Amino acid sequence: MLPTVEEALKELETAGQMNPGPWVKHSMNTGLAARNIAENVPGMDAQKAYIVGLLHDIGRRFGVTDIPTHVYDGYRYCMEKGWDEAARICMTHSYLLMSDEFNYEPKTEAEQAIKAYIAGCEADDYDRLIQLCDSLAVDYGFVILEKRFVDVTRRYGIMEGYIKGWEVAFAIKENFESRMGCSIYDVLPDIGRTTLLTPKPWKPTGIEGALKHWGLNAPRIGEQFNKDSGRLIYKITTASGDYLLKGLPDSTPEDTVAGNVKAHLFLGNGHGMAPKLYPAKSGEYYVKDSGHWFYLMEFIDGRQMEETPEDEYKLGQATRKMHALQGYSEPSPMTQSKDRYYTWFRGKEFVKEFDAILDALPDFSKLDQCFVHTDIGPHNAMIRTDGDVVFIDLDDSGIGSRYLDLGWPFIMQFVDFNDETEEMTYRFDLAKSFLRGYYGSDGISREEYDLVFQGAVQMHISYMQAYGPYAVDSLWKILRFGMDQRQMLWNMIHEDETL
Ligand SMILES: [Fe+2]
Repeated sequence: MLPTVEEALKELETAGQMNPGPWVKHSMNTGLAARNIAENVPGMDAQKAYIVGLLHDIGRRFGVTDIPTHVYDGYRYCMEKGWDEAARICMTHSYLLMSDEFNYEPKTEAEQAIKAYIAGCEADDYDRLIQLCDSLAVDYGFVILEKRFVDVTRRYGIMEGYIKGWEVAFAIKENFESRMGCSIYDVLPDIGRTTLLTPKPWKPTGIEGALKHWGLNAPRIGEQFNKDSGRLIYKITTASGDYLLKGLPDSTPEDTVAGNVKAHLFLGNGHGMAPKLYPAKSGEYYVKDSGHWFYLMEFIDGRQMEETPEDEYKLGQATRKMHALQGYSEPSPMTQSKDRYYTWFRGKEFVKEFDAILDALPDFSKLDQCFVHTDIGPHNAMIRTDGDVVFIDLDDSGIGSRYLDLGWPFIMQFVDFNDETEEMTYRFDLAKSFLRGYYGSDGISREEYDLVFQGAVQMHISYMQAYGPYAVDSLWKILRFGMDQRQMLWNMIHEDETL
């Protein structure tokens, strides 16, 4: 089953509105190439070739994703519509080597599904035709295979198996040409001109447009970070220095963005403990453009912090300094109340014990409040080349509980859990260093120590639903194990005498 040509064109138009990009024109050209070639191959259905060519990348309607994801999304979308012939092409078009592409055990659901599908699939003329046309069609027209292969390799680097794929593409080309009685290039309009063009590679969602708001001096868009996070994070280089451009989807409430900006202005611009923000030409620190909220930040020259006693010590010192800052009033969006946890895990065997643990926790909103980060750890901190610690990812920063902020790593981070053996160890070395950095020579009183550990328990509990139902039992074990280390760590910091 297939849609009509009109339906397929309409699908592509809608998809292009959902996820704009050069892929839409590429899909149109893939369809045209497939139609023109099939018209000249005896026995092939040119209309079918056109339609499956138009729809081969339809999985991109859901956003900027990787190869297996767009393949599998496209397959499922077409199957839901009942277009099984188009669904098949979605699955096969990226895999010229067919089942030989999968000489490994895939990890993601998408790849496992594709592997299973292709294992039961013998490539037919339409699979082969779209694999070929996918390589001939670009957004600005048609190009010869040799050129396209160099373009793709320049963009993504050379990967194992590429050259085997090239060989298959040339074999497909020769096969069709012998049946057409002419070159495939004879039926691709204007290829002689377009194959000589080399437009600049496309960048997603108006990064260039967004940058115009800041009036930087000849900015160049560099490396993209955290590609899978749903956020756009790009390094921007200029003659006068480097920046980081961050874009959050505009489905994010403006309050959240404004809160984040305030925290950066306070901790970064005000105190040098987070990346600074730069105002746009309008004077605002964030702008809305091309479906995103953008802000421009300082690019931190330095390194990510690591789980070592040395870095934990510095992190403890920096946390102390941050907690002592005055003059901020926005509350952190993180909940301090334990109430909602009383509705969790009602069917679990450990629920009584869990409730007893909750009962023993204080109301943190009545205890020390200060500027908090809510997720302090080496993963959210960098160290500048001059040695200063910088906190990143201020999404939940604001006024909150000092003990919850301090408690976060004591179970979540310092319990090492081996997923295979389920064995647990406690990183006393890291815990001691962090405390020593935070409390310095003053030391920590027993009362305060117990509050930090209670903070650790509540923070751990707040994450117990975050990794899905299968992780709950492991997280419960980690909680119990972490709580059991409380006295041991206390004894150790006193033997140490450095604290
Ligand atoms: Fe494609």
